[in-house]
Amino acid sequence: MNIHKPRGGGAKSNLAEDVRAGLTAARKMLPAKYFYDEIGSDLFEQICATPEYYPTRVEHGLLEDVVDEVVDLACPEVIVELGSGSSKKTELLLQAALSVQPSLRYVPIDVSETALADAGGRLVRQFPPLTVDALLADYEAGLEHERVGEQQASKLFVFLGGTIGNFDHDEAVELISAVRRQMDDDDRFLLGADRVKDHETLRRAYNDERGLTAQFNLNVLRVINRELDAAFDLRAFEHHAFYDPALSRIEMHLISKAAQKVPIESLGLTVEFDRRESILTEISRKFTVPGLAQLIDAADMVVERHYEPENGYFSLIFARPA
Ligand code: SAH
Ligand code: AVI
Repeated sequence: MNIHKPRGGGAKSNLAEDVRAGLTAARKMLPAKYFYDEIGSDLFEQICATPEYYPTRVEHGLLEDVVDEVVDLACPEVIVELGSGSSKKTELLLQAALSVQPSLRYVPIDVSETALADAGGRLVRQFPPLTVDALLADYEAGLEHERVGEQQASKLFVFLGGTIGNFDHDEAVELISAVRRQMDDDDRFLLGADRVKDHETLRRAYNDERGLTAQFNLNVLRVINRELDAAFDLRAFEHHAFYDPALSRIEMHLISKAAQKVPIESLGLTVEFDRRESILTEISRKFTVPGLAQLIDAADMVVERHYEPENGYFSLIFARPA
């Protein structure tokens, strides 16, 4: 198992600029990718196991049902995954692909080094014929890395978990277009996306009773304290997550409990907060079926199969180049 770090694509390469831009903006925000250090990746896995956070269970069940057809249609010799995390759902694809062919290359792309190392180590032990070439990088830098595109082998690109929802429309089109640019005619794309549903189910998924999502949200401040020598007091901020039906998205915020000033040593910056001022830390968009078709179309692909469970909670889109 190898972990490559594409030049200029390092996981924390833009942290300082992103934090400066985000926390000096009129409406403060932080990019969601900075949640995922070792603690953040571990908290995300714990969130996935809570009764409230349905997406992981629903997507896993759906993938179990359709994995043989997906592998049959895609015949992948290489599987490239964006934001692979623990790769637990991906195991289904790896196993199905290896049951019909002797070897397979897996290229997980993620900003979390611990997630890549843990998953990669587990997978090579579990599936001895598997080659794992992990890329510690942002999606775009990972996709452009030569080891993704060099081979003539047929590739299946996968982006699971509903993570596409963490991008606004234009960013999502840009990201799927970046996948499209790496695809030859025979390559395929599998996208998992969370769906619009009753608001209480959505709200509860981001407000679990154990408070794990709150800890996950606050973890971005811990990352900034460590990496940029900042002095955020995590107890001085509270988690706030709600569903906005007008924008079909969850918004996750950190609310400053009091007026306060927070120095960020490495940036030579002190950030001022009013009482109840918020930092937008994540959006998580929820899709309709036509909305997903539009997204795929905008990235110059066509939907070959659309899979959903009976309750329509989640979609798996299987697409090919237009
Ligand atoms: N696909 C997994 C994990 C989803 S969590 C699942 O479905 O359970 C999102 C994952 O994407 C995390 O592992 C995180 O580290 C990674 N990630 C977030 N932003 C990223 C970015 N900009 N580039 C690469 N990986 C990113
Ligand atoms: C990774 N991503 C799809 C998760 C989501 O649901 O938007 C991250 C998450 N945030 C809070 N809980 C889970």
